[in-house]
Amino acid sequence: MGGSDNLKTSIGHNWQKGPINSPTVLNATLNIAQFWDGRAKDLKEQAGGPIANPGEMAFTHELAVDVLKSIPQYTSEFRQVFPNGKVDMANITQAIAAFEETLVTPNARFDKWLKGDRKALTAQEVRGYQTFKNAGCVACHNGPAVGGNSFQKFGIVEAYKTASTAQGRMAVTGKDADRFNFKVPTLRNVELTYPYFHDGEAATLHQAVDTMARLQLGRTFSDGELNDVVAFLKTLTGEQPNFKLPILPPSSDSTPRPHPFND
Ligand code: HEC
Repeated sequence: MGGSDNLKTSIGHNWQKGPINSPTVLNATLNIAQFWDGRAKDLKEQAGGPIANPGEMAFTHELAVDVLKSIPQYTSEFRQVFPNGKVDMANITQAIAAFEETLVTPNARFDKWLKGDRKALTAQEVRGYQTFKNAGCVACHNGPAVGGNSFQKFGIVEAYKTASTAQGRMAVTGKDADRFNFKVPTLRNVELTYPYFHDGEAATLHQAVDTMARLQLGRTFSDGELNDVVAFLKTLTGEQPNFKLPILPPSSDSTPRPHPFND
């Protein structure tokens, strides 16, 4: 699922509905900061939040530490890995962040094309890339993650209408000028991480691109331009981390069982 949950907003403890669309963990290490409003400065700072958030895991840091301490493999590995050898929140969140740094998705077809493999993209996809550049999407979606490196206002030319109460960056800085500034999301693997926007209101890439063109750039794309840009965006899907859950028992016959994390 491209490191997301493909839900408008995520479901937490006791089936509580979260307030905002979950950003992908893939390539999160390339982000300028974490969360849509950037309230965590890095992955380590982010990792402590969900454990104790009553709407997410509804646990406490003390209990999380106790659980890990009760598992001998963790205590011995923490002793080997960390200078002070402690199982504590600082080391736990650093371990989670170090793991997340491995969740990158190299070798997208677009990367291969940039490296000189002219056959990696079709004519339509190259046309989409040209439109993406010429229309001005690259003003915000640029760099190694094709985004993730700045905060920008959502609704520059035209206001974005939403039922969500999220105020974006203003929640962090307290500055009115930052109202409705959100972290520009990475567009890597964007074909997999639907639905789109911080409120999850755009179900398809076509919708998201159409909204972006109108609200951010004051442009109405033709159907052809929309199809081209969407085709280009799909070339940003890279090699996905290969999650294997070791806890799955072997199936009784030799056919592998379908499992969302294991295919
Ligand atoms: C002025 C900056 C800016 C420009 C220009 C811009 N975007 Fe965005 N883009 C954003 C921001 C900010 C968001 C996040 C909006 C939100 O949900 O709050 C975003 C979100 C998106 C998303 C949804 C990604 C997701 O994971 O939810 C897509 C797709 C996208 N942009 C594509 C484009 C395309 C294609 C163009 C050109 C037509 C474009 N953008 C132009 C800033 C920009």
